[in-house]
Amino acid sequence: MEVEIRLGSVRYPFRLGTDCLGAIVEDLVAMSASRLLIVCDSNTGPLFGAELVERLSPRVPANLLIHRAGEPYKDLQAVGTLADSALQLGADRASVVVAVGGGVIGNIAGLMAALLFRGIRLVHIPTSLIAMSDSVLSLKQAVNACVGKNLMGTFYAPESVLADTAMLRSLPFRETVSGLCEVVKNSLAIRPSMVEMLRTSLRQDAVYDDETMYEIISESILAKASVTEDDMHECRAGLVLEYGHTVGHAIEYTAAGGLSHGQAIGLGMVVAAEVSHRLGHLDQEAVALHRELLTRAGAMVTIPEEVDLDEVMHRLRFDNKRGYLADPAESSAMVLLGGLGEPLWHDGRPLVSVPMALVGEVINEIACPEIPNFELVSPVETVEEGRVPDTVGAADG
Ligand SMILES: NC(=O)c1ccc[n+]([C@@H]2O[C@H](COP(=O)([O-])OP(=O)(O)OC[C@H]3O[C@@H](n4cnc5c(N)ncnc54)[C@H](O)[C@@H]3O)[C@@H](O)[C@H]2O)c1
Repeated sequence: MEVEIRLGSVRYPFRLGTDCLGAIVEDLVAMSASRLLIVCDSNTGPLFGAELVERLSPRVPANLLIHRAGEPYKDLQAVGTLADSALQLGADRASVVVAVGGGVIGNIAGLMAALLFRGIRLVHIPTSLIAMSDSVLSLKQAVNACVGKNLMGTFYAPESVLADTAMLRSLPFRETVSGLCEVVKNSLAIRPSMVEMLRTSLRQDAVYDDETMYEIISESILAKASVTEDDMHECRAGLVLEYGHTVGHAIEYTAAGGLSHGQAIGLGMVVAAEVSHRLGHLDQEAVALHRELLTRAGAMVTIPEEVDLDEVMHRLRFDNKRGYLADPAESSAMVLLGGLGEPLWHDGRPLVSVPMALVGEVINEIACPEIPNFELVSPVETVEEGRVPDTVGAADG
């Protein structure tokens, strides 16, 4: 399948197939790049990057650049180090940055492509469900700051997205569930017609065949496209994609890699649904549907007790939607639903100013046990042309 992604005046093709690595290689060769800079993380490098470089190298100069896997390493330092490595390898204006990985590598490589020579070509080869069904359908390329998520970045369009659902076969349970939480978000906040399909397709063991993945991704593309087509900067209708993200980002940042992005957003949606219910907007049935779909997808619907709730409340003050609304003091701008697929609008945006005290009350009620540990380190390894890399450190999957 090939769809044209339309974001305002920007257009780029999204090619989605199964077992189509050969076609992806041909597409990359056809770009006549002076050099292909294949950017991977320490999981996707050995899984996909090494083979890509091996197949491309006889036909076009290609290098593998590997960054440590994980959200805690999505920062400006990563972008700078990878860009320096690319320049040392001989990158020029005719080079192409190829992001082979999940949303983290997509964002790091996207920002790197935007900055190198003030902008060189970018291709996304998404390998996680979040990347395939969500992040590559956006121009947003941001990395994290010390106080919060996605606070430094820019808008930058890829030349194309080349996706192979076969790459999802190696995705760990945690990451499949993470992607499905964002898919559930799309169904609840944008495209309720997906709900029945999800009810029958979702599995708590997160084991899916290629056909089901293909259908889930295709539906998500349609959902996201419907709100971004006329809002390329995602600052009006596209803000609905931030459903669950205000509290979700604060939880994700506080958990520092202990919870996947999608899982944190899932918890953020449960909080947003309950807040909307208490404000008299969303009915109990719709609130229950949030929990049902997330549970069917294998996600948690209670905040693990190891998440520091005071820290979550503190992080809410650094949310990246601050400034859109003239928020009264002690309030937070959130996407809330009045019904399925029906966000509440205020001042031309699907955002509502919610008292922090109410958010805190709901967060406290939705909290309970269990969160895995994480470790913090951030090296970058550059691998020479055609050489198969060693894995850098442990994965966060
Ligand atoms: N730009 C946007 O609009 C946008 C939208 C959604 C999410 N995001 C960003 O995306 C990130 C989340 O994306 P993510 O969940 O893909 O995170 P990720 O890139 O960290 O990938 C999750 C984990 O899965 C591993 N992985 C990826 N593909 C794999 C495969 N095929 N087999 C085995 N392991 C694989 C990765 O190495 C990593 O450990 C967040 O930083 C979020 O802010 C951006």
